[in-house]
Amino acid sequence: MSAPGKTKFQIDLRRHLREHYVNENLTHLICEIAEASKYIIHSIRTGDLGVAGTSNLYGEDQLALDVLSDRILRKRLDHSRVVANIMSEEADQIIPISPDCNGKYSVAFDPLDGSSLVDVNLAVGTIVSIFEGCDLLQPGRNQVAAMYILYGPRTTLVYSVGKGVHEFGMNTLMEYTLLRENITIGPQANLYAPGGLRNLYTPGVEAYVRTLEERGVKLRYSGGFVPDINQVLLKGKGIFFYPHLKDQPKGKLRLLFELSPMAYLIEQAGGAASDGCRRILDIQPTEIHERSPVFIGCKEDVAMAEEFICKHDLQRDSAE
Ligand code: F6P
Ligand code: MN
Repeated sequence: MSAPGKTKFQIDLRRHLREHYVNENLTHLICEIAEASKYIIHSIRTGDLGVAGTSNLYGEDQLALDVLSDRILRKRLDHSRVVANIMSEEADQIIPISPDCNGKYSVAFDPLDGSSLVDVNLAVGTIVSIFEGCDLLQPGRNQVAAMYILYGPRTTLVYSVGKGVHEFGMNTLMEYTLLRENITIGPQANLYAPGGLRNLYTPGVEAYVRTLEERGVKLRYSGGFVPDINQVLLKGKGIFFYPHLKDQPKGKLRLLFELSPMAYLIEQAGGAASDGCRRILDIQPTEIHERSPVFIGCKEDVAMAEEFICKHDLQRDSAE
């Protein structure tokens, strides 16, 4: 798709969206989110660790970084003229922006996932899910776009509008330029990233983990959902899970802000995502902050998780 004579490293995000025939409003929206991320990375980098309730050098009240990231994104989306409703992991309710849904989009986002990792200088990220029109309580398969921005040693942006998954890197001019196009995931993992306390795993999950370990699959867990998913996606051979636990039957991660957008991206790359029995993208959300267990990454290992979870755990439950 690149123009003759240009290397793919010179393609910026807007141009890439245009070349993929993404309509003007959606292009504008994705670019606005990319713009917002520049302010978020600036806040992270300047070292204002943003402990809420403290004041900065100038005696001004300081916001926690996740609250600040939320404000940055909200403001940008509010002024974008292409947004109907927004929903943030930091808010309790849907925030209406425009009553007119025509040609507009609704956006769910986790402004700064893993924010507790900032003070130990580990990678964090922003996760975004986009639907057409006003409705945000929809199964993830109806998303028209999903993206995340990873604030690591480099800042990268990964997006999909249903035409493959593409990675961009922020250059010294703070522009996002194309790094990798049409990223794909292989069938079987050689690394695994497991969330949750192991002694709270159910027998099905425990048996699943042991099978992975016996196969020689390596443990690679950072504790941040965005870097962990990025690793699965870019290495192309991984599985992330945050399962249902004995004391948390719905796991920890949130369907609308975290799981749906990541499941959309991973499926676009040829992987899969399941709650242990159902495709994540088919779950009809009933409330904003709904949680779900998740097994996401290489297809064969997601299918194997379903074998263990659906059969082992559910049979066991019904026998009890
Ligand atoms: O948003 C929640 C989060 O911080 C994710 O980034 C991460 O995957 C998960 O929690 C880690 O949870 P735990 O500390 O229980 O492993
Ligand atoms: Mn989060």
